[in-house]
Amino acid sequence: MLFKQQALLRQKLLVLGSLAIGSLLYLVARVGSLDRLQPLCPIDGRFGTHGQEEIPLRALQFKRGLLHEFRKGNATKEQIRLHNLVQQLPKAIIIGVRKGGTRALLEMLNLHPAVVKASQEIHFFDNDENYAKGIEWYRKKMPFSYPHQITIEKSPAYFITEEVPERIYKMNSSIKLLIIVREPTTRAISDYTQVLEGKERKNKTYYKFEKLAIDPNTCEVNTKYKAVRTSIYTKHLERWLKYFPIEQFHIVDGDRLITEPLPELQLVEKFLNLPPRISQYNLYFNATRGFYCLRFNIVFNKCLAGSKGRIHPEVDTSVITKLRKFFHPFNQKFYQITGRTFNWP
Ligand code: A3P
Repeated sequence: MLFKQQALLRQKLLVLGSLAIGSLLYLVARVGSLDRLQPLCPIDGRFGTHGQEEIPLRALQFKRGLLHEFRKGNATKEQIRLHNLVQQLPKAIIIGVRKGGTRALLEMLNLHPAVVKASQEIHFFDNDENYAKGIEWYRKKMPFSYPHQITIEKSPAYFITEEVPERIYKMNSSIKLLIIVREPTTRAISDYTQVLEGKERKNKTYYKFEKLAIDPNTCEVNTKYKAVRTSIYTKHLERWLKYFPIEQFHIVDGDRLITEPLPELQLVEKFLNLPPRISQYNLYFNATRGFYCLRFNIVFNKCLAGSKGRIHPEVDTSVITKLRKFFHPFNQKFYQITGRTFNWP
């Protein structure tokens, strides 16, 4: 009898013990899952309105996703106010040169956490209609950024348009100006290739490069041809120097940006007084594209559009030689003015 009672008691204790352990395990699991569902800290705390020096650059990289959404216009007024975002006039402009690698330069600089790019070419200073709309119109075209970040825009037509230097000077006389150049003959052929592709897309025929670049009457280089004129870098730069001292310009080697982008970008970081943040990790060579592509983080990377890096048509070697000879003295002057020498023939 006593033995039977003891066995019953043991059974009851076992059931109660199992219940207690089960409840405990349930509570632990529940608290754990609740913990995972809770934000680590309130949104305000994470993206609060810090003073501008207080935000470490690392954190900005983390915020890039949010900024990306804002730039696409996916932000409410409340979010913009909450995150203290502003649309700022550019502190630096890539003024040219067309086909020098202006898009690659802008996209690569945008890897820097303190840089925010204006994605579209705004054409504010070279287009009279846009310019007439006023500086506020221009500012409103700029992307949202944190106050301590710098906005950069690129419109390659600025470099060759008469009125632009004075107009930019009126906006900001101490603005930093970036010019990316390539070997002038290669750039001219690249320029031609872009126009040719546009014509072909519309099923139109177009002249051969040789016919445009060489005057058939004189057999000399045709300086009226825009692709040739744009490559006379020194002529355009001299107009800019009437408004800005040479120290406000930085010349980027567009040919080196293709083959070895990092050192070129590091020189730009220095020129813009930015701490060095772009690293080899951010740039990887894509063999299929034949170009360096951009790596923002472990999940987000991108290559430039297919319209960048076209195959150039074959050009008669005598025409190339003639063009190179033509550009030579202008190149020498350009090296002298800028203090940057290239191995152009
Ligand atoms: P090509 O199409 O002649 O090769 P822009 O952006 O000023 O129009 O310049 C276009 C040029 O950028 C291209 O000229 C290409 O060579 C050059 N470029 C430089 N870096 C590049 C990159 N990482 N990806 C694609 N094109 C790049």
